[in-house]
Amino acid sequence: MRLLVTGGAGFIGANFVHYTLRRHPEHQITVLDALTYAGNEASLAPVRDSIEFVRGSVADAAVVDELVGRSDAVVHFAAESHNDNSLRDPSPFLTTNIIGTYTILEAVRKHGVRLHHISTDEVYGDLELDDPAKFTPETPYNPSSPYSSTKAGSDLLVRAWVRSFGIEATISNCSNNYGPYQHIEKFIPRQITNVLAGLRPKLYGQGENVRDWIHVDDHNSAVHAILDKGRSGETYLIGSDGERNNREVLSMILELLGQPGDAFDQVTDRAGHDLRYAIDASKLRDELGWKPQFTDFRDGLAATVDWYRDNEAWWGPLKKQVEAKYAAQGQ
Ligand code: NAD
Ligand code: TYD
Repeated sequence: MRLLVTGGAGFIGANFVHYTLRRHPEHQITVLDALTYAGNEASLAPVRDSIEFVRGSVADAAVVDELVGRSDAVVHFAAESHNDNSLRDPSPFLTTNIIGTYTILEAVRKHGVRLHHISTDEVYGDLELDDPAKFTPETPYNPSSPYSSTKAGSDLLVRAWVRSFGIEATISNCSNNYGPYQHIEKFIPRQITNVLAGLRPKLYGQGENVRDWIHVDDHNSAVHAILDKGRSGETYLIGSDGERNNREVLSMILELLGQPGDAFDQVTDRAGHDLRYAIDASKLRDELGWKPQFTDFRDGLAATVDWYRDNEAWWGPLKKQVEAKYAAQGQ
């Protein structure tokens, strides 16, 4: 199979490339990535000789048309992905998440190529802390931030292209991922690398917000299950029952790094901060027989801490700039 992986130099996309080549060395992979601040070619260094890498934007119709035209399937990860950035400047979110997805859709329509669109549970908005409900594929869209609203828009474009033009496409909405190669602007790697760099971790507000954590390899095994067995036009929710509030996650990180439990700062809360996300993945489990492998969050987190400890060369050069950006807004 000839796979076009957009955003393959980012966190989940790079892990997808590694995961795919471990299990399907016969697949031919082309990565299309603009190498924005979030993309890092070093994340693909171990497999650089086994893939084709093209630097370019998913919003560039000529490049996309040429690459889609010689692929059997597209897995579309490329996006602007960070809520805090979207609050500072929404414009690249519109270009990449909306126009970029539109550009991919027009190319798969023209060439009759299968698409899997990667999205987030944040399109559903948030849940109360004491609500027994979880998100299902029927939950109405209710996004809160420029990031989640542009992802919601991209999902709706995919649905419309399936219905109106008959393209072959699936969508997955996944909960918060953790694991190696995640940009250090995100919660878990930011706190780990703060400790490793001698800085205090930063918790937004009271830290009561709940995220439903999933290991990135479990996300990617689910994407493969959908590529293999998913039904066109369907939406699959990906999650592994990993609900924890930010305070608990931070306590675990501090403990794993041998720090006292109170060695962190509480900082300005995020505007419009979603309270809780929770995924009901029963459709994926029941219809496609998918199961997560990383069922012990503490073990997965410990391995992630070890990865950042062993790979300072990967994240060290970014640290000063990322923290300067947060400091400028009191976070
Ligand atoms: P990331 O920010 O780490 O990586 C994004 C990648 O896309 C980078 O390599 C970047 O260079 C590339 N990119 C950005 N704009 C581009 C453009 N115009 N053209 C081509 N490439 C471009 O993001 P991530 O965390 O790996 O997320 C990947 C996908 O998964 C996104 O669609 C995101 O919405 C979705 N998702 C993420 C999570 C999560 O917890 N991180 C959870 C659910 C869904
Ligand atoms: P983040 O990793 O940005 O993912 P998302 O916004 O997609 O959930 O944040 C995860 C949670 O951690 C979210 O509730 C915000 C919070 N957070 C902090 O408390 N401190 C931080 O430094 C960051 C970056 C996030």
